[in-house]
Amino acid sequence: MKVLVTGATGLIGSALCDSLFARGDDVVGLSRDPGKARGANPRVTWHAWEPTLERPPAAAFEGVDGVVHLLGEKISQRWTGEAKRKIMETRRKGTHNLVGTIAGLERRPSVLVSQSAVGYYGNRGDEVVDESTGPGDSFDSEVTREWEKAAREAEAAGVRLAIIRTGQVLDAGGGMLAELLTPFKLGIGGPIAGGDQYLSWIHIDDEVGILLWALDKPEVSGVVNATAPEPTSNRDFSKALGRALGRPAIVPVPGFVLDLKFGSEFGTVLKGGQRAIPKRAQELGYEFKHPRLDEALEDLI
Ligand SMILES: NC(=O)c1ccc[n+]([C@@H]2O[C@H](COP(=O)([O-])OP(=O)(O)OC[C@H]3O[C@@H](n4cnc5c(N)ncnc54)[C@H](OP(=O)(O)O)[C@@H]3O)[C@@H](O)[C@H]2O)c1
Repeated sequence: MKVLVTGATGLIGSALCDSLFARGDDVVGLSRDPGKARGANPRVTWHAWEPTLERPPAAAFEGVDGVVHLLGEKISQRWTGEAKRKIMETRRKGTHNLVGTIAGLERRPSVLVSQSAVGYYGNRGDEVVDESTGPGDSFDSEVTREWEKAAREAEAAGVRLAIIRTGQVLDAGGGMLAELLTPFKLGIGGPIAGGDQYLSWIHIDDEVGILLWALDKPEVSGVVNATAPEPTSNRDFSKALGRALGRPAIVPVPGFVLDLKFGSEFGTVLKGGQRAIPKRAQELGYEFKHPRLDEALEDLI
């Protein structure tokens, strides 16, 4: 299979490329800086693309069977006006431009696997949410709605579409877990902002597993939550991480620290959360490699 990946230089994208190569697939990557990307991953065939400014080159799609669309400006940063514009436009316009090229191809890929996030559901307390639950009203929820709406244009072009609403991806090499390792190893980690908020997490192997499964299985279409079957409270997550590291997680982090670091808008989102379950992935037969948090953390650390 030949697979085109956007965001292939990122945390999830680079792990996905490794798995695609491991099973013998060819990988085409789109990047703003293909020279740098080639240096990091020479096995990928790279093409240049500025997602908000233009459609990606049709030549990159020659012989491509499936597309995995991951790129986007980092969400975990202080949400200044400029940051919010980039977070939104890389996804809304970037996805619209991507689908524009796909729709104009004579030979189209058969599937688009398009990333989204559980931020779609907004802050839901301890309510269990699945793919049928409606959206929230925070900025990140609005972003995912626009992102998914742009991806749906692929369906009109006759391309199978799977939208992957991803939870917090756990990987020791980057993202949230990597950031938590240092304070927890120093014994100064602990529950954040009271710890009652839910965290819908997923091991990087299952995130990549679900992307590959959605690529391969013709019966997978529509929205799929990519989250482990047992979301956990922030407090229980802190305890589990403390156990995995052999360090007690006893130093609570007050909520205002998040506001200081990220500003109050994104800080408020971080103090909330979702209890999302992977209802459709399980109904459609995806088997999780790491369904339990203790084992997932042990594997990663
Ligand atoms: N990691 C998570 O826990 C998580 C959870 C839910 C959803 N997601 C979503 O999944 C996607 C991939 O996540 P990730 O953690 O792998 O992200 P990442 O490591 O931050 O990588 C993002 C990718 O997007 C491209 N990119 C970044 N900023 C851009 C900009 N301003 N304009 C154009 N391209 C830009 C980069 O490609 P180039 O620099 O090569 O152009 C990079 O490869 C993201 O959309 C993210 O929001 C991630």
